[in-house]
Amino acid sequence: MPTYDWNIKTWGETYNWRQEGEEWSSAWGNSETQWFGTLLPRLHRFLPCENVLEIAPGFGRWTKFLLPLTIGRYVGVDISESCIVHCNEKYKSDNSSFFQNDGFSLKQVWGQKYDLIFSFDSLVHAEINILN
Ligand SMILES: C[S@@+](CC[C@H](N)C(=O)[O-])C[C@H]1O[C@@H](n2cnc3c(N)ncnc32)[C@H](O)[C@@H]1O
Repeated sequence: MPTYDWNIKTWGETYNWRQEGEEWSSAWGNSETQWFGTLLPRLHRFLPCENVLEIAPGFGRWTKFLLPLTIGRYVGVDISESCIVHCNEKYKSDNSSFFQNDGFSLKQVWGQKYDLIFSFDSLVHAEINILN
């Protein structure tokens, strides 16, 4: 399982985000087909909803679908500074914000309540001590 250091280096330094993660949806054609064909059928009972937390949005492959389905507040938390910078540039609005976390905690959202906490294709990169 990749370590904390691997995640910091890979997603913040070495990974080429040119396609913004679309490359991971190529088996479906693109992220839109994957969202509507595979993810939304499993999530539709929970969406739209008031407040959404996305853990590890990366460059926002799923953020762009979650935002229009968030009535109140959307928050994205990612370990990678470059992901947060990108998401802040592309997706920040009056009801959305993005924070860099320390990779182990969700301090920025402690005490807040969310109707949906979403993460996909990300926690597979986290070791058990991070998940704990
Ligand atoms: C393969 S990318 C997936 C990004 C996005 N979820 C997607 O599906 O396109 C993995 C993401 O997980 C983030 N990540 C890895 N470990 C993390 C942790 N402990 N806390 C928060 N984000 C983490 C990375 O920075 C990266 O953005």
